[in-house]
Amino acid sequence: MTSPTELLPAPSAVERPRDGTVDLTDATTLWAGPGTGTTERWLRSTLGAALRLPLRPGPEHAPDGLRLRVDDTLPPEAYRLTVEAGTGTEITGGSPAGVFWGAQTLRQLLGPDAFRRAPVRPHGRPLRLAEQRIEDAPRLRWRGLMLDVARHFMPKDDVLRHLDLMAAHKLNVLHLHLTDDQGWRVEIRRHPRLTTIGSWRSRTKIGHRASPLWDDRPHGGFYTQDDIREIVAYAADRHIGVVPEIDVPGHSQAAIAAYPELGNSDVVDTTALTVWDTWGINPNVLAPTDTTLRFLEEVLEEVLDLFPADAGSPFSSFVHLGGDECPKDQWRASPAAQEQLSRLGLADEDALQAWFTGHFDRWLTARGRRLIGWDEILEGGLAPGAAVSSWRGRAGGIAAARAGHDVVMCPEQQVYLDHRQDAGPDEPVPIGYVRTLEDVYRFEPVPAELTPEQAERVLGTQANLWSEVTEDRARVDYQLYPRLCALAEVAWSALPAPEERDFAGFERRMDAHYRRLAALGVAHRPPAGPLPWQKRPGVLGRPIDGTPPNR
Ligand code: ACM
Repeated sequence: MTSPTELLPAPSAVERPRDGTVDLTDATTLWAGPGTGTTERWLRSTLGAALRLPLRPGPEHAPDGLRLRVDDTLPPEAYRLTVEAGTGTEITGGSPAGVFWGAQTLRQLLGPDAFRRAPVRPHGRPLRLAEQRIEDAPRLRWRGLMLDVARHFMPKDDVLRHLDLMAAHKLNVLHLHLTDDQGWRVEIRRHPRLTTIGSWRSRTKIGHRASPLWDDRPHGGFYTQDDIREIVAYAADRHIGVVPEIDVPGHSQAAIAAYPELGNSDVVDTTALTVWDTWGINPNVLAPTDTTLRFLEEVLEEVLDLFPADAGSPFSSFVHLGGDECPKDQWRASPAAQEQLSRLGLADEDALQAWFTGHFDRWLTARGRRLIGWDEILEGGLAPGAAVSSWRGRAGGIAAARAGHDVVMCPEQQVYLDHRQDAGPDEPVPIGYVRTLEDVYRFEPVPAELTPEQAERVLGTQANLWSEVTEDRARVDYQLYPRLCALAEVAWSALPAPEERDFAGFERRMDAHYRRLAALGVAHRPPAGPLPWQKRPGVLGRPIDGTPPNR
């Protein structure tokens, strides 16, 4: 029996009025009220499999039964979980999502074995819940994780697994960074070379770009359109929205390698470009031409079809168009780009990128969708409907919120989980700042500088995992966990100001949570540091020393 104080993320309130208990057994029935079908299915398929609980359908008032209901007088994602001897266990959510988050709490109350895929204890031992009443609701609406599946491809099964892990932490937005210089990862029927050419590279830099090491095996992979539909549906069943990112006009060498006419071919021989095999900011960006716009519209038509606006979460209407790190040297040198700039009467190359973003802001808005981009899209003037992922610190997010734009706070100084989590010499391929579990726990996503009205524009927060040095499942697990648990609590729970947060208490709850992660098979970083096989001696990273700027 888990004590409610071991729940993670921490719930708003727990009451223990009496000390009765309720047993879940073979005979426990499940009554699922209208709108609770996702949770009903999840309980049978996941908890049912882990604990061999049939959870047969039963009447609403079965003694000691399990009941699910939606009560829209509660806030949308809020839930109430009550365990009462004789009456049973009831999860009431303000929406179907609220019921689902309540079921995630129920799983934690049932102990770490509830996180396995099949039972490990002798059958027949009762699963006992203490009488209690939990009231809970998320602090922030957008509770996200960005996975960069472009630098290193993440096989579809691993994406589904991360969706399960996100659900267990009450995270509700998966931002999928699908395209970059090093690979294009989504099938586009109209432009097949994006994946036949753009989805693989012949070799890969191992470690930071200054490393002399190469992996001479070809690396690649992409999601077919049905794979994407499966990912989106799997996410939606867990009340998670998937926000696709097509990163333009920078970070586009894979697309240019596939279709050289997309690049600045009057400046460089774009027919000689291949999918990039190393890391950094790449000068080969899309040409700012009408041809490029039409090509991307054709891509986005398929993307909109694959990622429906009503799947999973209120944020499924967002489409991320990148916009980060687009060097303007080729645009300055290109007669075609300069002619476009003059024809549009624009002041400079930043304005040209703003024109590009503005075009897609209108295009997406006309189709009932929303554009979101990295904070560089503020330069040259932000398109009216656009939202901003604030990554270069908090300043972009603050400026955007003050100007009335929606914002997702994900500053690299705090929640880039590819950055190392300890200053010691054993961190595998250490890059970036030291961002410990405690640092992430003390991250505050809503800047104190904002007025309450401006703060409403902060939709929430997400952790970002860039994958230059995380080439497989174990490396991704190591970088994400346990820090994503801290981010989940920051996003969900009503924590006090950073310096007043009870990190020792969080660590105590992590003791229980590590047992859940172990049952889930997560290769997290142990608190005492990497296990021998989690180290990568001899591979060059790029640690940045000192305190990160713009905290
Ligand atoms: C980014 O880290 N370039 C968004």
